[in-house]
Amino acid sequence: MATIVQLVKEINSRDESNRGRYTDKDRSGFAAVYDELFLPYQETAKNVMELGVNLGGSCWVWERYFTNANVDGVDIWKRNRDLGYTDRFTFHHCDLGDERDLHRLTDVRKEWDIIIDDASHSWSHQMLAFEWLYPKLTVGGLYVIEDVETSYHEDRKEEPPCITFVEYVKNMIDGVVWSKTADEQPWPMTSITFRHNLIVVKK
Ligand SMILES: C[S@@+](CC[C@H](N)C(=O)[O-])C[C@H]1O[C@@H](n2cnc3c(N)ncnc32)[C@H](O)[C@@H]1O
Repeated sequence: MATIVQLVKEINSRDESNRGRYTDKDRSGFAAVYDELFLPYQETAKNVMELGVNLGGSCWVWERYFTNANVDGVDIWKRNRDLGYTDRFTFHHCDLGDERDLHRLTDVRKEWDIIIDDASHSWSHQMLAFEWLYPKLTVGGLYVIEDVETSYHEDRKEEPPCITFVEYVKNMIDGVVWSKTADEQPWPMTSITFRHNLIVVKK
């Protein structure tokens, strides 16, 4: 079975046959990290969701990699709706800065095994999506937030919230380290992993 690195390379090297799909997950190095993290979920994941579809390259990869999963792609940009590779792909038109849209999104599935936030990268959207969607993550599932570098952009002042997304996650560390069981925490979680430009929360 192909790895994520191989699938990303494949979609990015195609021309007419890819209907314009592309993903930058190799440039960022995330593809290699995902090969480490997602392998145990490759065949068992039932539902995978990516926030931020853009040209559809990453959703194409998820449909092929997660052999038994429904893949939900979420974007404010409606043009992306026809990018599915199989009938396991569904596009959801949604503004992740709008709580009504997020509320609607939570009704789409009972739960997701993997959620990847690669949408606007604004702190407030990252927090809002996390607060709405983390409760819908399977126990043992992964919630991934990409491009958290925006938390370090001096010129990116957002109001509200007044803390960056990385600060927001740091505030959860005590709960993970101190609580004996995930149930004792306000946000039940098993681990938080910090990688370059990436945060991965395991429920
Ligand atoms: C970095 S691109 C996604 C790339 C894609 N995941 C990939 O790897 O190929 C970010 C996407 O987020 C979408 N986006 C930006 N703001 C958004 C919002 N408020 N709600 C939903 N999607 C948004 C953009 O339209 C864009 O398609």
